[in-house]
Amino acid sequence: MGLEPKNLQSSIPVPSVQELASLQLEAVPSRYIRDDMESIISTVASDNSTLRVPLIDMAKLVDSESHETELQKLHAACKEWGIFQLINHGVADESLRNMNKQTQEFFDLPLKEKKRWAQKPGSLEGYGQAFVTSEEQKLDWNDMIFLKALPIEDRNLEIWPENPPKFRESLDRYSQDMRQIAVALTRFMAMGLEIETRELCAAYEDGLYQIRMNYYPPCPQPERVTGLASHVDIPGLALLLDCGDTPGLQVLKDGRWIFVEPLDGAVVVDMGRITEILSNGLYKAPEHRAVVNKSKERRSIVTFCYPGLSFKVGPAMDLIKLGSPPLYKTVTVEEYLGCFFNPKPDVPFIDTMKI
Ligand code: OGA
Ligand code: NI
Repeated sequence: MGLEPKNLQSSIPVPSVQELASLQLEAVPSRYIRDDMESIISTVASDNSTLRVPLIDMAKLVDSESHETELQKLHAACKEWGIFQLINHGVADESLRNMNKQTQEFFDLPLKEKKRWAQKPGSLEGYGQAFVTSEEQKLDWNDMIFLKALPIEDRNLEIWPENPPKFRESLDRYSQDMRQIAVALTRFMAMGLEIETRELCAAYEDGLYQIRMNYYPPCPQPERVTGLASHVDIPGLALLLDCGDTPGLQVLKDGRWIFVEPLDGAVVVDMGRITEILSNGLYKAPEHRAVVNKSKERRSIVTFCYPGLSFKVGPAMDLIKLGSPPLYKTVTVEEYLGCFFNPKPDVPFIDTMKI
């Protein structure tokens, strides 16, 4: 590992994995082979059917009869897992199906066409691969397109695909739908934590919503690569739509990797570091990763939800009043992002936020 601080705000161009996959190679290039995969694979529990990611029903949170019981379930899910499946979230199936279809049609376009919306030097947005900072770095078996969707002023329309023709319209609608889920969920999470809800919900109303569409082609040696290497997300919430029935997302729970089984119509909610900090460490932002499949492709659409730039990220006052000392500093979302994108050499990002 180099000691220079890495600049995470741009990515070195690397080949399209989709193109590599289409060559029908017997072995994947060494740049994608992870030496540590064996140890990672061996931690996957063979009996992991007994451990399931929790399921939360938003309709039950809303209904006064079932509210209290479901709120306790949500609170436990956030504390013990940091990830859950959300059903009856109030967003029309049509919006999810539509975005799914547009994403599929986009990745199905010829490479040359997709490259019309490629990442530009110095930017992470657009079609390409995220966070490739050195020529030696191991690569993920993943192509993606990353777009800022909300607030509307943040949109860089020159890299918003115009092909397929309904892509932009669908993304516009979809991003507003994801904001609706984030705001509603935040209210219930704040209730679970017994902290003030109003300011937090307002911050998510005015929040940043950035969307990453992932494409994982089939891989001749799935056991030796990662679709997306293990990581923790940095926003408040990540809302993930699994676009089919091929499992790929895994979460680390008590030292074992557990598959998140795709569930039609559900949205997977994954806590990011901002929620961990806000809850003063009570809610955990989990390590997760994506694995790939030998014969099947997989797509996912992930919406990263942040409170607005001026919102102060720090342990909620109501939690500190109760006598537990704050474990994290308080900084604005803008400062927080500044720290993430300009990391200190060899200091894990979350440690720079700790007191
Ligand atoms: C991500 C992520 C997992 C997946 O994009 O941050 O964790 O299954 N994706 O695509
Ligand atoms: Ni993630």
